[in-house]
Amino acid sequence: MRADPLSYLSAELDSLKQQGLYRHLRVLDGEQKSSTSVDHHNVVNLSSNNYLGLTTHPRLRERALEAIARLGVGTGSVRTIAGTMAIHMELERRLADFKQTEAVVVFQSGFTANAGTVSSILTKDDVVISDELNHASIIDGCRLSRADIKVFPHKNVDAARKILRTLPATQRKLLITDGVFSMDGDLGPLPGLCALAEEFGCIMMVDDAHASGVFGRNGRGTIDHFGVHGRVDVQVGTLSKAIGALGGYVAGTRALIEFLHHRARPFLFSTSHPPPVAAACIAAIDVLLEEPALIDRLWDNTRFFKARLKSLGFNTGMSESPITPVIVGDAQRAMALSDRLFARGVFAQGIGFPTVARDKARVRTIVTATHTRDQLQFALDAFGQVGRELGIIQG
Ligand SMILES: Cc1ncc(COP(=O)(O)O)c(C=O)c1O
Repeated sequence: MRADPLSYLSAELDSLKQQGLYRHLRVLDGEQKSSTSVDHHNVVNLSSNNYLGLTTHPRLRERALEAIARLGVGTGSVRTIAGTMAIHMELERRLADFKQTEAVVVFQSGFTANAGTVSSILTKDDVVISDELNHASIIDGCRLSRADIKVFPHKNVDAARKILRTLPATQRKLLITDGVFSMDGDLGPLPGLCALAEEFGCIMMVDDAHASGVFGRNGRGTIDHFGVHGRVDVQVGTLSKAIGALGGYVAGTRALIEFLHHRARPFLFSTSHPPPVAAACIAAIDVLLEEPALIDRLWDNTRFFKARLKSLGFNTGMSESPITPVIVGDAQRAMALSDRLFARGVFAQGIGFPTVARDKARVRTIVTATHTRDQLQFALDAFGQVGRELGIIQG
């Protein structure tokens, strides 16, 4: 029998186990909700990106079911061959109206929207100036583009300026940031970065995956929150988080969108969204426009939970959004916190390297509009008890 050529993978997994970084996949027994059953265990769920509870919203379900009945469950083709349906065009029109841009193109995910866009609008002669905590899909897009990658310290506009000063005026430059940073919940410094982009003639790009449905009027995102409409050339959003379904999109000029139709590889070489997904996303835009109370509730819950976690004595970093990290440092301790919370009925995932720096392991919490105060208080009580048991907080 030949030796297993993949045996090195088992060695890697053993090493992850030794470092406390090995995780088994938690399985939801039912729906994605604020209180649910995970691994046959009833929990308050603080781990989803389902900010507004739209994964189970009746209007989205209804529209998805209607689309299945009318249009079927799949498209059978990529967008550029036979996979563009009227419902995809309707979704893109609605998103462009919502984001106040000329046009939008929808991708299969936020990941492919970022990676496909950055890799197609740049070449090896260009340069990217990128925040050190930008999402993995941006980093992969940069690598695929083969452009030179210059990383600036987190949110440091002056450091980005210093980098820009060293670059030839004629070189094409992309300045790129997350709108909301996914592991820390803080905001990209958009006004400062937009001013830099204007000063140095950069393309300005913002990944608003965690901001759409959360920040700005009716959830229009950080561009709206900061009032920088018209100053961000490439806006990426996701349909997989607050929007409650699946997908990503790029909003910008008509020329940008038509270019992506011709050059973005995930758009060209991967099958389009099933009709029920597109229908659910359209219904989600209706909900954002017609039920803004959901966003108000999300923010009420955010303020309540964040203030109380902090007053328990946890290090919650610099978050400004519904994402609140509980930063522990050591990975084994973060995983122990997560595991003990789970045993007490609170699902808050532990996160370690490579998702965050080695010494910044954490439990990440995300509250939603649909959490009740009782659920949040139950979670806070568990955090307090387990935090004291593990010596993360005193008292
Ligand atoms: C900042 C950021 N950008 C992009 C993505 C990718 O979005 P999607 O889950 O739709 O692929 C995520 C999700 O993990 C994210 O946190």
